[in-house]
Amino acid sequence: MDIKKFIKLAIEASYNAYAPYSNFQVGAAVETESGRIYTGSNIENASYSATICAERVAISKAISEGYEKIKTLIVYGKYENEQEAGDVFPCGICRQFVSEFASDDLKILIASSEDNYKIFTLNELMPHSFSSVSAYK
Ligand code: THU
Repeated sequence: MDIKKFIKLAIEASYNAYAPYSNFQVGAAVETESGRIYTGSNIENASYSATICAERVAISKAISEGYEKIKTLIVYGKYENEQEAGDVFPCGICRQFVSEFASDDLKILIASSEDNYKIFTLNELMPHSFSSVSAYK
């Protein structure tokens, strides 16, 4: 998919964020290995630790539809009412969650607009990650 359109989906997903506590709206979009696209936004909770990040929502949508590997992940975030978006990197829990479902060549795009993004590999964001290979030999 065209990168600009793909980032736009993540930006649009951020508008659906349920973030009354932080006012920080995050949107994510993932592309599965078979080319399906899923989006997600962060969903907060009065019991803060029950909050789910946008990345995990998008990936959960994909996995629950039967798609197991993610080849692209886009993350976009900004404070409500702010003009400028900055770089928003996945939190540690999301990095672990992503690593479970990442294709070998997963690209993670950190986008601050349709035209501005940086691309990372999972290994750059999460070297020496914990996996079933390290856990169960
Ligand atoms: N958040 C995400 O959705 N993704 C991240 O990777 C970082 C944090 C959300 C969680 C919470 O709703 C808000 O941003 C502020 O932490």
